[in-house]
Amino acid sequence: MDPRNQSTILHPPSAEDAKSNRKTYEERSFTFDKSFWSHDESSPHFSHQQDVYASFGEEFLDHNFEGYHTCIFAYGQTGSGKSYTMMGTPEHPGLIPRTCEGLFQRINEEQNTSITYNVHVSYFEVYNEHVRDLLIPRTTPPTYLKIRESKADGVYVQNLTDSPVKSYDDVIRLMNTGDQNRTVASTKMNDTSSRSHAVFTLTLRQIQHDITSDSTIERTARMRLVDLAGSERANRTEATGARLREGSNINQSLTTLGRVIAALADPKRQRAMSRGLQNQTKRRADVVPYRDSVLTWLLRDSLGGNSKTAMVACISPADYEETLSTLRYADQAKQIRTRAHVNQDAVSAAERDAKILEMQETIQNLQLHMNAAAARKRDEADKAGQELEDYQRQVFKMQRAMEESKAVSDVKIRALTQELEELRPQNESLLTEVESLRRHLALALGELKNPIIIPSIVDEKENYQATDDEEEGYESGDYSSDDGEPDTWQEEVDSLMQDLSLFRKRVQVDHSRFGNPGQVEEVSV
Ligand SMILES: Nc1ncnc2c1ncn2[C@@H]1O[C@H](COP(=O)(O)OP(=O)(O)OP(=O)(O)O)[C@@H](O)[C@H]1O
Ligand SMILES: [Mg+2]
Repeated sequence: MDPRNQSTILHPPSAEDAKSNRKTYEERSFTFDKSFWSHDESSPHFSHQQDVYASFGEEFLDHNFEGYHTCIFAYGQTGSGKSYTMMGTPEHPGLIPRTCEGLFQRINEEQNTSITYNVHVSYFEVYNEHVRDLLIPRTTPPTYLKIRESKADGVYVQNLTDSPVKSYDDVIRLMNTGDQNRTVASTKMNDTSSRSHAVFTLTLRQIQHDITSDSTIERTARMRLVDLAGSERANRTEATGARLREGSNINQSLTTLGRVIAALADPKRQRAMSRGLQNQTKRRADVVPYRDSVLTWLLRDSLGGNSKTAMVACISPADYEETLSTLRYADQAKQIRTRAHVNQDAVSAAERDAKILEMQETIQNLQLHMNAAAARKRDEADKAGQELEDYQRQVFKMQRAMEESKAVSDVKIRALTQELEELRPQNESLLTEVESLRRHLALALGELKNPIIIPSIVDEKENYQATDDEEEGYESGDYSSDDGEPDTWQEEVDSLMQDLSLFRKRVQVDHSRFGNPGQVEEVSV
């Protein structure tokens, strides 16, 4: 592997090995979007689990927050590191735990309180072409789930546990439960070989409420993280009996996956897609053999539809032919162009209520049907069973819609409380201002109602003259007590005379400002 140009070179085996197989081997070179090498930790271009996550796992998480569905799947022969890449070990966690950690880190760091996040986790395995829920305890005989298809939900696993999670710890708990329930066995090439294809799905729903228009924007993104079973040929693992049967079923899924990838990567199909030739694309889409295996049928959307998808091809220095086959597989997958779009809905509060009402009606209708079906004969039991499932599904959907409605209400309350808090200081300063204005007004009114009576101007002048004389006398006169000494009484009189003089001057100023007090009108407020 050359980290400078992302190329991977497959060297032919030694001459001795080649001779014993009587086959001609040659050096092959492939170039991928990213190539990682993790053989010798002391090497400068050794890739750690963090490097793998940082190079595209983080980017995929960005797409999820934008509202895109994503899928990452690991392909390769037994023991090549698929489970290590996807799940990892407690000391070296892989893409799945890192993605979950990143998801909750971003949710917790989000400052926008108008967004509500809902995360759900499901985990199932496809074993011997059967689907098993990994989040419920194993049963004997095993409980297999049915695959169904509906217009609204596409292809889905019926009655699959879809657990709500609130934190990274919640996810880890579920992940561990699932891993314990997963079918693993010891093969010659891997002591804990995954005998099934495991599909770990995170669903992220973001509900953003706009307080001004009372509408919500809902974005749903599904992250599928798939750890496939080994792509080895039966003779390599020296499997017999149950292991051999497993192998052939694993290979049925993987062979179909190979054919699906080949059909999707078909250059003619790609050209039709890029030119937007709808009919031609549709005809060719029919040719893609999704339905030939459970795995491809379930991953249909992730492989060739509405999803941003990455394939991690794992190789180990074990076998030239197996490695070449993996590299060819990856090279073909690289040609596929999917058409991902943002899964977003804008819903007003009224529309949401109408939707819930509509669901209620559907549920009522289904209930009536069911009651009628119960009265019908036994041979219609199947139909009744289907109706019962539709009914349960609708009830479940309505519960979720109501939960979301409650979440939107919570957001509304949060937004209004925040707005109230922001306005509080402004409100307080306005109240203070109003209070001081009210006091001013009361003072002004008091003054207007009880005006200071000022004598007429003529009298005033006379008075002033007299006063002036008095003042002169006061200033020039020799005020002393009989015994010839100035006493405290004299000082008091002096100060009173000074005050009186000042008061007169003020009255004069008021008079010139307010005019004749007889003309003052009553003002009512
Ligand atoms: N890059 C790596 N660094 C360190 N150890 C690794 C690496 N890749 C794989 N291993 C180790 O190699 C062993 C086999 O890897 P793993 O179980 O991931 O293989 P697998 O591809 O999932 O095989 P199977 O198809 O049988 O499930 C494990 O013990 C794993 O820890
Ligand atoms: Mg594995």
